[in-house]
Amino acid sequence: MDFNEQRLRTALQGKSIGEPLYFFPVIKSTNFQAFRLADEGAPEGTVVIADCQTGGRGRMKREWFSPPAVNLYASIILRPAFPAALSSPLTIMAGVAVASALQFYCPGRVRLKWPNDVLIGSRKVSGILTEIKTSDRNVEFVILGIGLNINIKRDDFEPQLGQGATSLREEIGSPVSRVEVTGLIFDEIGKHYQLVGARGMEGIRELWRDYSGLTGKNVEITFGGEISRGTVAGIDDTGALIIREESGSERRIIAGDVAMIRG
Ligand code: BTN
Repeated sequence: MDFNEQRLRTALQGKSIGEPLYFFPVIKSTNFQAFRLADEGAPEGTVVIADCQTGGRGRMKREWFSPPAVNLYASIILRPAFPAALSSPLTIMAGVAVASALQFYCPGRVRLKWPNDVLIGSRKVSGILTEIKTSDRNVEFVILGIGLNINIKRDDFEPQLGQGATSLREEIGSPVSRVEVTGLIFDEIGKHYQLVGARGMEGIRELWRDYSGLTGKNVEITFGGEISRGTVAGIDDTGALIIREESGSERRIIAGDVAMIRG
């Protein structure tokens, strides 16, 4: 198996993201473990990677399908030196960074669905779960949890994921080195994290716009049983989606599932 602790350690050596590395053949959730390590004082750049998760978590309390030997499940500890209110761009940043890494494999076909689902064509290949611990309006740490379908075959997805999910292997037609993709993703995260640190959302807004293709589109956002509709005007400095409603008023959306609608 090309995906083991030693190979990962060699591939991540010297990178700003990836040291120290904690590798687990099986774990409940890398996010859960990273949160615990961060609480105990683990430094920025610490990474937890697992070959398999027994309780992988997704956004909105969903499960994240995490079988062994095929995918990437990773959580990164960041300790940004900016106030809690400015930490949301990190969620957008992570999506942009993963999309940039996947461009290498599927040029021109990678898209972002707000806030940070990464799609190839119209199917989801990666999801990101951000968890933040704050104290006194400052960020203590941020956990960026990344799930990426790399070599899983379409027939092996859980039936409920149906046609909505894909993997790099399915899109390219041949298996991909999980160690290589992991290195690329961590490089891109290191690079885009610096951009956000230096220029906030301005550092990544255009990239987000290019990958998302949502600006100017009519969308429907579902959150907690409520549906909002409007035309996407962009994202603001906190990473919230701005939509213009039919009435002409603008609305900030901070969470939800976005679907494009016709008309
Ligand atoms: C989503 O719902 O799209 C976000 C999915 C995030 C899954 C990753 S896998 C690694 C990390 N550990 C978890 O338990 N969740 C995240």
